[in-house]
Amino acid sequence: MIEADALSRLTIVEEEPAASNASFAADVRRGLSATPKFLPARHLYDAIGSALYEAIMLLPEYYLTRLECEILGHDAPAMLKALGDVEIVELGPGDGRKSRIILEAALDRSPVVRYHPIDISRSSLRALSERLVAEYDRLIVTAHHGDYLQTLQRRFLRGSGRVLVLFLGSSIGNYEPTEAHLLLRMIADTLAPGDALLLGVDLKKSREELELAYDDPGGVTAAFNRNILARINRELGGTFDLHAFRFCVAYDEQRACVDSFQVARRAQRVRIGALDLDVEFLEGERVLTESSYKYDLAGISAMASGSGFTLSRTWADPAGRYSVNLLEVTAASSQRRARSQ
Ligand code: AVJ
Repeated sequence: MIEADALSRLTIVEEEPAASNASFAADVRRGLSATPKFLPARHLYDAIGSALYEAIMLLPEYYLTRLECEILGHDAPAMLKALGDVEIVELGPGDGRKSRIILEAALDRSPVVRYHPIDISRSSLRALSERLVAEYDRLIVTAHHGDYLQTLQRRFLRGSGRVLVLFLGSSIGNYEPTEAHLLLRMIADTLAPGDALLLGVDLKKSREELELAYDDPGGVTAAFNRNILARINRELGGTFDLHAFRFCVAYDEQRACVDSFQVARRAQRVRIGALDLDVEFLEGERVLTESSYKYDLAGISAMASGSGFTLSRTWADPAGRYSVNLLEVTAASSQRRARSQ
């Protein structure tokens, strides 16, 4: 049971009520009709996918979460000190493990902290928000169920203080570098000068380490990835035989990207009832289900450059395997915003 006092500090806003299922259907149609076939990674996170991703974060092979928590645990006070009082927005908080570290550092500095998690997964958003208001009695949560960019573009922030946007977990890695740069620009355009973005970015490393992190021997990641086919069966009346596909991961050193695939074990046809669509697969044909781009420090500066943000600081673990970056909105970007309104 959550106490009334805690609930009074929680609001959940439905940003695009019916849109998310419609966009899943449209994306599945587009991706499975394309050559080569692909499915956008954001659809991996239904309730089951989100739970499996939480399990991935516990895996010893998946170093990303562990290192990000270490960096935040060590440096969050310095990050917040650099900014002063902030209202916090988070894009895709997931289970909130990383959020808590930042929220606690913010609560150490300010009597009341406002927090706006934005997530596409309703179940994990609600669970997290309810736990946070129950745990922290000086925290006010407005949770937004929706796509993060669309939600940010609604300019829901009314306060006068600085805004800190959290985009952690190397989620930026799911975007192709030019799209990542564009996303930063669009985020900057919703913010004002002095506002900031804390960006978690995974760093380049050996093929062996990367392929192990994205294809753990225990098969948790394989299950997470295969769930996209199961989700099509559940929600769109698909007839995927899950045993007829296998999971495969490959690091492309040229693009510095780990690509994840479902591979057809044999030629087959799959019907997707809700789309009135039949999809043909050749033996060995691959469906790209996720791309996870890796960066070096020069690549992170290049991504920030011209985005409306200035990269002001990077924190990394001692071995330089993972980074957390503070980007601040430059004045030029808000002039662009002011002109465009
Ligand atoms: C949540 C997008 C950061 O690319 O590392 C973990 C998800 N995929 N294992 C990543 C993921 C396979 C992940 N992100």
